[in-house]
Amino acid sequence: MTSEPKIDRSQTAIRRYRCSRPVALAIAQGLIDTHRSVFDYGCGHGEDVEYLKKQGIRVSGWDPSFAPEESFQEAEVVNLGFVLNVIEDPAERHATLKKAFSLARQLLIVSVRVDRTPAQAVDFNDGQMTSRGTFQKIFSQAEFREYVQVTLGRRAYPATLGVVYVFADDAAESAYIANQALLRRVEYRAELINQFARDRIARRYVKLAVELGRPPLKEEFSSYAKLLERFGSPRRIERLTLGQIDPERLIQSQDQKREDILTYLSMLRLQGLRPPSAATLPGGVYADIRAIWGKYRSALEAADVFLFKIGQPDAIGEAFDQAPTGKRVNDTLYIHRSAEDALPPLLRLVVFAGKQIVGDTGYNVLKLWWDGRKVAFLTYDRFDEDAHPALRNSVRAQLPTTDYGIRDYSDSLNPPILHRKETLVFADYPGFEKFRALTETEEKLGLLSREGIGYRKQWEETLSQAGVTLAGHRLTRRANGGK
Ligand SMILES: C[S@@+](CC[C@H](N)C(=O)[O-])C[C@H]1O[C@@H](n2cnc3c(N)ncnc32)[C@H](O)[C@@H]1O
Repeated sequence: MTSEPKIDRSQTAIRRYRCSRPVALAIAQGLIDTHRSVFDYGCGHGEDVEYLKKQGIRVSGWDPSFAPEESFQEAEVVNLGFVLNVIEDPAERHATLKKAFSLARQLLIVSVRVDRTPAQAVDFNDGQMTSRGTFQKIFSQAEFREYVQVTLGRRAYPATLGVVYVFADDAAESAYIANQALLRRVEYRAELINQFARDRIARRYVKLAVELGRPPLKEEFSSYAKLLERFGSPRRIERLTLGQIDPERLIQSQDQKREDILTYLSMLRLQGLRPPSAATLPGGVYADIRAIWGKYRSALEAADVFLFKIGQPDAIGEAFDQAPTGKRVNDTLYIHRSAEDALPPLLRLVVFAGKQIVGDTGYNVLKLWWDGRKVAFLTYDRFDEDAHPALRNSVRAQLPTTDYGIRDYSDSLNPPILHRKETLVFADYPGFEKFRALTETEEKLGLLSREGIGYRKQWEETLSQAGVTLAGHRLTRRANGGK
């Protein structure tokens, strides 16, 4: 039951001309598609409804102020977008969340504003009243997730800050988790396999492997260093080579499978979920488990041991050494998002644990700490275009607690900036050569050993003192030679 709003909540609906972020995310993650109906609970002016209709999705919406004549509908997916914030009465807020969940056959998407204080707000109940006379309950991410979990008695999966997914259906939930743990890896490999197959040097290497009946040692192949530069690690080259000789062997490679399955089972554990029964395990996972461990129970035990390593600096340190790319700075490792799936399983697990706290913040660079207890999701503006992109924000998750901190530099005149971009990506990343050439020039000029260059102003001063200017990724001498 919803009571009469005590304040004008219609003011809170802001006109938007695209779909909302939670809806866009759910589409991107394949949670909303043409096979699933959607109900937009508290749809405001109905932009999401319109957008989804245009995508050919069965959708309807209801809103007490803007679409009160519409009816409540059950649907596979229910979206409760930025509604809870505007309800000032905690009992009504609670009832709204429950009602929205009761309408969801598979998934409820809940979003709220988190951690931002609207300008000129004054305290009001357990939220705040803004100058426009509208109410806003501002949650912290942890508080929000907890609130949803306690109210619905179901696990809430953070999609990004302020957005969580709650599954009403066990099969949909287990497919979602498996997707995160297993599927991206497979897609990534498929792309890499193609690339390896097309590469001239890789083809010569494979030919030699066929002759030898095994992958050649690095001493046996003169261009090995180039291969390493292009494809990352010796292990990976070996796997890709075996895959070329018999593609099935790569896909079936027990090593790879073992890692993936351990990661998957550990991810379930990390979320406090009971492992699914053998019959409900996704795809061919059960067959793989039987082939590798014999018993499902043994696989679960192995996953526990694996998970335990997260908090062990030695194990994390070893994983740092195995990382196929990334920049080491003191006790941290920076790596671009495009290389994330190639991280050793233990580091993937640390990243996953971090995402359990903050979701996907839209980051493009990861920062991992040696002690395995912290992971930061960094968003740099114009990573590809700018020679030294500026940090817009950093969201740092503290493991294993649910703590996190945000640093926002979007208004800063002197934000931290990035150097040596090529060290964060693989050699096949678009622009890699350009990044590398710039770093080489900067090193030759001694620019990278100066103090304080990690911040934009100091960096610009350094360039000016050296008498050079940057245009795109090229350094040129200034006409007056920097005098
Ligand atoms: C900030 S708007 C969000 C609208 C839309 N979901 C979006 O994302 O653009 C909040 C909406 O919640 C609606 N609302 C207020 N109380 C509600 C309740 N008890 N149940 C459902 N919707 C409610 C308001 O009418 C308003 O349209």
